[in-house]
Amino acid sequence: MADYDVVVIGGGPGGYVCAIRAAQNGLKVACIEGRGALGGTCLNVGCIPSKALLHASEMLHEAEGNFRKMGIKASGLEVDVPQMIAYKQEAIDVNTKGIEFLFKKNKVTYVKGWAEIVAPGQVKVGDEVLNAKNIVIATGSEPAALKGVEVDEKRVVTSTGALELTSVPKKLVVIGAGVIGLELGSVWGRLGAEVTVVEYLDQITPGQDGEVVKHFQRILGKQGFKFVLGAAVQGVETLKTKLKVTYRLRKDDSEQTIDADVVLVATGRKPYTAGLGLDRLGVEMTDKGQIKTDGHWRTNIPGIYAIGDVIEGPMLAHKAEDEGMAAADVIAGRHGHVNYGVIPGVIYTAPEVASVGKTEEQLKAEGRKYKVGKFPFLANGRAKANLVSDGFVKILADAETDRVLGAHIIGPGAGDLIHEICVAMEFGAAAEDIAMTCHAHPTYSEAVREAALACGQGAIHA
Ligand code: NAI
Repeated sequence: MADYDVVVIGGGPGGYVCAIRAAQNGLKVACIEGRGALGGTCLNVGCIPSKALLHASEMLHEAEGNFRKMGIKASGLEVDVPQMIAYKQEAIDVNTKGIEFLFKKNKVTYVKGWAEIVAPGQVKVGDEVLNAKNIVIATGSEPAALKGVEVDEKRVVTSTGALELTSVPKKLVVIGAGVIGLELGSVWGRLGAEVTVVEYLDQITPGQDGEVVKHFQRILGKQGFKFVLGAAVQGVETLKTKLKVTYRLRKDDSEQTIDADVVLVATGRKPYTAGLGLDRLGVEMTDKGQIKTDGHWRTNIPGIYAIGDVIEGPMLAHKAEDEGMAAADVIAGRHGHVNYGVIPGVIYTAPEVASVGKTEEQLKAEGRKYKVGKFPFLANGRAKANLVSDGFVKILADAETDRVLGAHIIGPGAGDLIHEICVAMEFGAAAEDIAMTCHAHPTYSEAVREAALACGQGAIHA
């Protein structure tokens, strides 16, 4: 029986970061992971592999598109799907090995196997029981099942199977116009699939700023995406040579069908807590199956904490990482803090979509007085030169104090540009603070400064 200050269950971005931070805090730490590799969903079947395939497919898209205009004649381009999947696997392997190295460096014990909390302070893995002064549950999430749809991960796939297809489907139907549907739809669309997205709501990417959504949908449409909105998928029938997706249009309740070679189910994820023994321990849960925590990541059972996708909040790797660090600090008797008002969200399509803070719709609903500073990439020299000038930066600032309340970017490098605004918001900055900061020319970042200028005296180039 081994004794630890902290036993972290789950080796994903929340769990492994928590384990490293706890060790840096001078605690004796073990991290238990059952999937045979560290990094969780994000690294093994999520963020990293999807970004590898997004990158590869975008390269092809560029070569087929802008190359000619730039004076590069590329011919004989071919897609080798197995090689692309192998490249993706390499990206995964190099990163998972990296975490193992970090565990060794920080003296975190990596325990392989599935964990069960047999009693407060006791975690069982196989035949071994670890004594733990503190337990952190960081077991993540899994794709939510959709009634009437049976996933086989070959033809009817979740994000996991969509990262492992052996050839480009002719017709891909995506259920759900959320982040997963649009990112993985982009991958296979660029590689040649005809992509139709069936979405329950009347818009894509619910929760995003409305103006961005409209622009985004138009761009995706130009890229070949077809959208069926306001449609609730009822089921998927597996026939010998094709799949038949049935949906009901909400506006007239009519039933329609669409054929597909592959169906991607991307209708959300749910917390993964199976086998942990939480029922028996009496760990309080929300009605959505999340573990209830008290704002300091403590559950109702003393010594048991929870972070990441298993608790409330956006299911994002970086939110889990922040909670992992904060929980490790709280356990070490230090001050752990996460600013939930400044968590960026990025959709890694081309162009990228990034947001932080409030949307215009939220500010309106809250009755806040705000001003809008907008700047199009069409007026940004670098974006024009690089032929990626579709999109804009939009900054929302308090009408009286000028304090930045939110920002929404659709355009080149949006996922990186957003962080300048995150830092500004963390410091409680005004739009004028961003506007007065010298930005290098020529960069996409200048569009952020111009949007900040547009909150005040006005942008220079638009
Ligand atoms: P999501 O919640 O983003 O979108 C699911 C969509 O499916 C919604 O628009 C919903 O209205 C629709 N839907 C639900 N039931 C339906 C039905 N029966 N018929 C038609 N449409 C239906 O979920 P998604 O895309 O599966 O992502 C899961 C989680 O993973 C999210 O929390 C997301 O933030 C996270 N994620 C984040 C990424 C990123 O940050 N880049 C990348 C991938 C995932």
